[in-house]
Amino acid sequence: MITVSSVSHSYDDTSLVLDDVDLTLPRGALTALIGPNGAGKSTLLSAMARLLSPDQGAVRVDDLDVLRAKPDVVARKLAVLRQDNHLTARLTVVDLVRFGRFPYSKGHLDAEDHEIVERSLDYLQLGEFRDRHLDELSGGQRQRAFIAMVLAQDTDYVLLDEPLNNLDLRHAAAMMQLLRQAATELRKTVVVVLHDINFAAAYADHIVAMKGGAVMATGSPAELMRTEVLRPIFDLDIEVHEIGGRRVCLYWHPEPATLEAPARDDIHAESSSG
Ligand SMILES: Nc1ncnc2c1ncn2[C@@H]1O[C@H](COP(=O)(O)OP(=O)(O)OP(=O)(O)O)[C@@H](O)[C@H]1O
Ligand SMILES: [Mg+2]
Repeated sequence: MITVSSVSHSYDDTSLVLDDVDLTLPRGALTALIGPNGAGKSTLLSAMARLLSPDQGAVRVDDLDVLRAKPDVVARKLAVLRQDNHLTARLTVVDLVRFGRFPYSKGHLDAEDHEIVERSLDYLQLGEFRDRHLDELSGGQRQRAFIAMVLAQDTDYVLLDEPLNNLDLRHAAAMMQLLRQAATELRKTVVVVLHDINFAAAYADHIVAMKGGAVMATGSPAELMRTEVLRPIFDLDIEVHEIGGRRVCLYWHPEPATLEAPARDDIHAESSSG
């Protein structure tokens, strides 16, 4: 179980990006973290994984005090995929995946480490790319290589920030299926940041919706997949339909022109009417 207690954080000392967040994430389940851009999802995930030390609060994973524990102890307990992976070194796919074994092997991989690396490459269907450099891959292939590295860490807890980025439909569905199996069959606790709420509803046991640095709603897909719950979170009219026993959201913005600067006449009309 992951327990987040009274976690607050600000990057610039003026505005709170996490505002006193309390959250409990069940063990052996797949939890989807959803919410609009800037909601604080990545910041919260980073705090859970100790990539960031929040100004205030505590994070526990089972009985481990994540913010105080030694880095290698944390790395054997949980693995994390960041939203943006920047690498300066020119690595091959298999070299990257071997990094996942570092918390155990410290660079000297034994037979078991190699076996786990091979299994992770297989899971992500990366066999044919194993000796390619990362900068010679497509965006989706590279994303899969980073996820293979995270899986090679073989931890009970797996935190993934937008793992579906750059994946095509088939690989995105396969990724969600893989995470589902990791929770159901291997009893791993998986926390995944997703923008696709239909994927969240179809595969997750539990959904956490954030906005403005706060948790707005938590519950099962059936509890969260409701127009009145989703509308204030995304500021969007979201229709929820039931197809084959599953809730599916349809959404579109009624006024596409609002992404552009308003026309001069509109500014004039608005300021004179207000
Ligand atoms: N390193 C940083 N320095 C300053 N502000 C930051 C930094 N990282 C994030 N922020 C700000 O903190 C807020 C929360 O950002 P965060 O990355 O956690 O959002 P998010 O929910 O993951 O959004 P997205 O869906 O766009 O990834 C945003 O307003 C963002 O501009
Ligand atoms: Mg993010």
